[in-house]
Amino acid sequence: VTRQLSTSVGRQGPVKYLTVIGSGLMGSGIAQVAAATGHNVTLVDQTDDILNKSMGNMKKSLERVAKKKYADNPKDGEEFISGVMGRISTNTDSSKAVEKADLVIEAIVENLGVKKQLFSALDKAAPQHTIFTSNTSSIPITDIAASTQRRDRFGGLHYFNPVPMMKLLEVVRTSETNDETFNTLMEFGKAMGKVTVPCKDTAGFIVNRLLVPYMLEAVRLVERGDAAPRDIDVAMKLGAGYPMGPFELSDYVGLDTMKFILDGWHERDPDHPLFKPSALLNKLVGEGKLGMKTGEGFYKHKK
Ligand code: 3HC
Repeated sequence: VTRQLSTSVGRQGPVKYLTVIGSGLMGSGIAQVAAATGHNVTLVDQTDDILNKSMGNMKKSLERVAKKKYADNPKDGEEFISGVMGRISTNTDSSKAVEKADLVIEAIVENLGVKKQLFSALDKAAPQHTIFTSNTSSIPITDIAASTQRRDRFGGLHYFNPVPMMKLLEVVRTSETNDETFNTLMEFGKAMGKVTVPCKDTAGFIVNRLLVPYMLEAVRLVERGDAAPRDIDVAMKLGAGYPMGPFELSDYVGLDTMKFILDGWHERDPDHPLFKPSALLNKLVGEGKLGMKTGEGFYKHKK
């Protein structure tokens, strides 16, 4: 007796071949951790120059991991690093890069039109069984999935920065994601060494829905002149046990990313008091002060 599958497309085994599109901070972190846990990864970006820089950043991050993991045996550490790097290949052609993929994770610019264009092309190039996911933090997964004919094999995988250190993975299931896809994504997350939590396709999922309004409330405290960023950071680290205060974390995550998230929510729910734009955040982003990556945000940083 053959088991009736919940989808018409056939078997989705464990993920062996992963394609990550976008080699920025999140994409390269995801690629690195997936390769470190034995997956074959193809990393895609627009130019070889960008990809080479990402490979360099992954190597540096792996050196930090190896320094701890193989503290007593640096030689094994070196082997670990070259083994992981050997499981990552790069490609500038996203359609070619998905030909063998079991799973695609998209981590490109937070722009619905650009994401839709990408997925519509990938939908034609990828095998039937390939699952598509986005790491978006500000756009509904359902809206992105609408650009494909595989809305049942589409979900969200939302990672946290820095990906090699943060244990959590939010697995987002839309109303159309089928059981087999969702289960495969949960299994993949565990195989990557993450603790997975299921989420519905709602604004901010779980972590950002709580974290971003909190960070914005900290900015509003400053805007009202009620407290200084440095004092708020000290207060939240020592009074609430957070590893970073809200301003340190804003600079770490990127002020542009925070603005993307907030603007997206505000557009969809303009009356929500927690989603109102912040003049200070908009000013800093307008001045190109995006946080650590540009050398200045709420604080000045050594580059
Ligand atoms: N790669 C590898 N290892 C890393 C790393 C990286 N990118 N970053 C940190 N580490 C490891 C290293 O072993 C490092 O030791 P080393 O400096 O000797 O190499 C060790 O962590 C300690 O790092 P630090 O001394 O620099 O600082 P901390 O002890 O404060 O730890 C932290 C760093 C883990 C980032 C910690 O501060 C933290 O947990 N911060 C909060 C991060 C957070 O909240 N992230 C979620 C943001 S929200 C998000 O991402 C969602 C998105 O949609 C916006």
